[in-house]
Amino acid sequence: MSTQGGKTWGGRFSSGPDALVEAYTESISFDHRLYRHDIAGSQAHARMLAHVGLVSAEESAALVKALGEIATHIDEGRLAWRRDLEDIHTHIEVELISRLGDTGRKLHTGRSRNDQVATAMKLWTRDALDRVVVGVSGLQRAFVDAAEREDGVILPGYTHLQRAQPVLAPHYYLAYVEKLERDRGRLLDARARLNWLPLGAGALAGSSLPLDRAFVARELGFDGVAANSLDVSSDRDFAAEFLFALTLLATHLGGWAEEWVLWATTEFGFLELSDAFCTGSSLMPQKKNPDVLELMRGRTARVNSSLQRILVILKGLPLAYNRDLQEDKEAVFDAVDTVERSLAVAAPLVASSRLRRDRIGARLEEGFLDATTLLEHLVKHGMPMRTAHESVGKLVRQCEENRCRLAELPAGNFNSIVPGLAPGVYEVLGVEKALAAFRTEGSTGPKAVASALAAWKARLAAR
Ligand code: ARG
Repeated sequence: MSTQGGKTWGGRFSSGPDALVEAYTESISFDHRLYRHDIAGSQAHARMLAHVGLVSAEESAALVKALGEIATHIDEGRLAWRRDLEDIHTHIEVELISRLGDTGRKLHTGRSRNDQVATAMKLWTRDALDRVVVGVSGLQRAFVDAAEREDGVILPGYTHLQRAQPVLAPHYYLAYVEKLERDRGRLLDARARLNWLPLGAGALAGSSLPLDRAFVARELGFDGVAANSLDVSSDRDFAAEFLFALTLLATHLGGWAEEWVLWATTEFGFLELSDAFCTGSSLMPQKKNPDVLELMRGRTARVNSSLQRILVILKGLPLAYNRDLQEDKEAVFDAVDTVERSLAVAAPLVASSRLRRDRIGARLEEGFLDATTLLEHLVKHGMPMRTAHESVGKLVRQCEENRCRLAELPAGNFNSIVPGLAPGVYEVLGVEKALAAFRTEGSTGPKAVASALAAWKARLAAR
């Protein structure tokens, strides 16, 4: 098809590239993953070419058909990747030309690999994004199911990893559902900004041919055409935004994984992980290690590094297309693979884990989880907040000296702070009663938690 081997750009060259250069510049070893999306873009382009009269209806039909056959051919692993054919776009076009001859040579009319690769990347990213959104909902479902399953369990809530105030187990699980919902929202926001068609922008300046970009946009499910051709061929904002959304999602998974690694320790003893999600030690027979959670925590680094990678690739790039942009793909692919696999394993891990109610319950009264509720009780009795804070602090010290809980202090200790505080004060003491006292919207109070749980069940059922 050209003077230089299979190259689609060989006309002006007198010699082919050195083997080292070929190896250095190729992208087929990774961008072969774009083939379905590249072909979808080419089929839409071929239909448009007939629509505007640049090829005949018969030629267009032949192109669309042959491209579909090439997709199947690749599905079956029958197209050999050749380093000298550089990238997936060239492979498909060369194969098309070998099948259709001159008709095949018309496909690239009005197109550059620059708008072609941007289109294929956007289509691939959009599909990946949609799969991740489904995966996020799957994990949200697992957390909501766990919230129902463990309803009624009271957990110690922590700040600074020190015991703070009691929380209902569903409140705990729903905290992650909320984080995941923001992740989902970020993905969908990124999708809306991604969904503008690059094709038709040509190499950088557009085309003098009567291309119908809106036609192609409709064919490929884009919301419209990207407005500025010069912007298009350098634009990888969609990849950067997607990678940020994935990174924050992976960060949420990593934090949660760390928490459960802690909870599964003998020291915490809050959580029983299913054997299926743990591994043993080659030496220590008693070990049951939370490797899945550890890897999920560790792989946050991979996703994060993909984000850094795309941002650094984009840093300092002048308009318009630069070959640096070829480096976007592995960053996106690796982050998607990592997050998809983490989500896929996280949902059944959550489903198969159980809170160790006996172990949690046995030490629930340790750590003065009811102290803040007592403070608020004093405020209800008209005591200024700061005075109440100091008074409860003193009561806690008395408990520590007597090795007892607040609920075990004699009435006199309370009445010396506010005459008549006892016996009513005992109604808010003890973790269970302290928890029942929470009443604000979004709090861990039983009413607020029940309505949040019901709302999430309905919301996920409607998805
Ligand atoms: N493999 C290239 C990439 O991924 C395709 C675009 C090449 N364009 C060019 N002018 N060399 O970016």
